[in-house]
Amino acid sequence: MRIGVLTGGGDCPGLNAVIRAVVRKGVGIYGHEFVGFRDGWRGPLEQLTTELGVPEVRGILPRGGTILGSSRTNPFSVDGGSERVRQNLHDLGVDALVAIGGEDTLGVATRLTELGVNVVGVPKTIDNDLSATDYTFGFDTAVNIATEAIDRLHTTAESHHRALIVEVMGRHAGWIALHSGLAGGANVILIPEIPFSIERVCAYVESRFQSQYAPILVVAEGAMPEQSEQLSLGRPGAGGVDAFGHARLGGIGEWLAGQIETRTGKEARTIVLGHIQRGGTPSAFDRVLATRFGLAAIDAVQDGDFGTMVALRATDIVRVRLAAATSELKTVPAELYAEAEVFFG
Ligand code: F6P
Repeated sequence: MRIGVLTGGGDCPGLNAVIRAVVRKGVGIYGHEFVGFRDGWRGPLEQLTTELGVPEVRGILPRGGTILGSSRTNPFSVDGGSERVRQNLHDLGVDALVAIGGEDTLGVATRLTELGVNVVGVPKTIDNDLSATDYTFGFDTAVNIATEAIDRLHTTAESHHRALIVEVMGRHAGWIALHSGLAGGANVILIPEIPFSIERVCAYVESRFQSQYAPILVVAEGAMPEQSEQLSLGRPGAGGVDAFGHARLGGIGEWLAGQIETRTGKEARTIVLGHIQRGGTPSAFDRVLATRFGLAAIDAVQDGDFGTMVALRATDIVRVRLAAATSELKTVPAELYAEAEVFFG
C-alpha cells in the first residue's frame, strides 16, 4: 500500500513521534510505502509532497513541531477543493491517508471519508478538547510548561507583593488552565466553561494578600466574566478568522490585571505564555502516547478500517468512528472545576 501522512492545525509536541511510529511499523512490519504531505491539507490540495521513509524519521522522536509542516488550510473552503484532494491522491497513487490533527483537521478527514477517501485519524492538540479520547498528546507537555512557569512566578510575585496573572491557551476548553493551575497551586483558575464574577476574583486576591502570600491567577484565553457584553477581546479584525472560522483569542489576562488594580489597589501584571506552550520537546508521557497512537493508526490502515480515529480509553488504545470523535468538544465538567475551587482564595 502507498500511504500519505499529514499533520494539520496548530502544531504540538509529539507529532514527530506519531510520524515515526507510523512509518517504522508501516515499512518494517507491513512493507508499506509512504509519501509525506506538506503543511496539512494544503499538501494533498496542492500536491506538496516530501519523501517519507525510515531515513527521514530517524532521530525525530524527541523533536517538537512537525517534520511535515502544518497549516490551517481547509479544502472545503476552497472552490472544488475536496475534488482536487481526491484527484491528487489518485494521481499520486495514494491508497490511504493518516491524518494527524485536532477538531478541524479531523473534521475535514470525516467529510473526505464520506466522499470515499480512505482516512485514519490520529488526535492531537494541546487543548485536550477532543471527545472520544481521554487525552490527546501535546496536552501533557503544555501543562508541564505552564506549571513550570507558575512555579517560577510564585517567587517573584512574593518578592514584589504583586498579583501575577498567567494567561494560558486552550481555546474554548479550560483543560490547560485547570491542570496547570492545580499543579502550580494557583490562587484562582478561570476557565471558559464557567463565566467568573470579577468581584469574587478580587475577593480571592485580597484574601491571599492578607495571608501574606502573593496571588497567582491562571486564566484560560477563552475565559469570560459573567457580564461580558461590554468586553471586546481577541483580534477579530487584525488576525481575522482562520479557514475554519476561529477567531484568535487573547487579552483576558490584561483586562483582568486592569480590573484587579482598579478594584483592589494592588499591582497586577500579566504573563501570556502563548506558543511557548506548544514548542520544544514532548514530555515522556506525550512521546509514549503519540508512539502508541502511531502504531495503532498504521494497524487500522493495514486492516482497512477507514473512517476511524485512534483514541485513548483508560490505558488502552481503541478505534472510534471519526464522525463521533469530532461531533462535540470535550470541555471541563463542573465537578472537576469544583475540586480546584477548594484551593481558591
Ligand atoms: O488549538 C491549539 C491552539 O494553540 C489554541 O490553544 C490556540 O487558541 C490556538 O491554537 C492558537 O492558534 P495559532 O497558532 O494559529 O495562533
